[in-house]
Amino acid sequence: MLPSDLIKYKEKSKKIIALTAWDSISGSIAEQANVDIVLVGDSLAMVCLGYKSTLPLTLENVIYHTNAVSRGFKKRIEEQPLLISDMPFLTYQCGEDKAVEYAGKIIQSTYAKAVKVEGAEPEIQKVISRLIRMGIPVMGHLGLTPQSYLNQGLRKQGESLESEERIKREASILEKLGCFSIVLEHIPELLAKEIKKNLTIPIIGIGAGNYCDGQVRVTADLLGLNDEQPPFCQPIIEGKNLFQDKLIKWVASQRLN
Ligand code: KIV
Repeated sequence: MLPSDLIKYKEKSKKIIALTAWDSISGSIAEQANVDIVLVGDSLAMVCLGYKSTLPLTLENVIYHTNAVSRGFKKRIEEQPLLISDMPFLTYQCGEDKAVEYAGKIIQSTYAKAVKVEGAEPEIQKVISRLIRMGIPVMGHLGLTPQSYLNQGLRKQGESLESEERIKREASILEKLGCFSIVLEHIPELLAKEIKKNLTIPIIGIGAGNYCDGQVRVTADLLGLNDEQPPFCQPIIEGKNLFQDKLIKWVASQRLN
């Protein structure tokens, strides 16, 4: 699947489902679950590498993990999910030339077919526009943007009139710039609904209610593998407790032998 194929989902009102992955096992599990998109999100910094935020993640980390994820895919290439990689902090904030070089490296040395970029400040708009003109499809990301947590915290966004207007304005700018889709994170459901209605590109939500054109989740959150859970993601199993329990019992049983 190519990024431009996603628009057909919206036209047919078919929900788009995306999961994150960070290695071959999570990539394989997500693919076998029949998702449409696998995102190598920069959340891998916390989920897999033990950092406290996404900021320390490097370009090399993203390339390394994107390749690991795609090695986990088992389906025929035409049936594999669309693979998207996050642009890490500082790979697109330092100007258009650097952004093209770094996004180009991701596209050139992995099977990712697009990159995701947070925010829509005037500098970021120029970067997005240049990336797209240079042949690199871009997914936008608005609302809670974790790479800006030092400024905005990890609070829900779009709750004041000013913040709501800003997200609406930025979403429509991202569509005009040529983004093929936008992730909306941790914003009010009705705001996401309005943006989805007003835009032709698919809106993929996380903590943005049920009206979006699709949903994305951090797989480790969904499986309850992390110590801390974001308020907007209910785990479907208590994965960490489950695995820990089984392993504790197995280790104890081995000592008895
Ligand atoms: O890094 C990530 O996992 C993400 C999702 C929350 C969309 O950006």
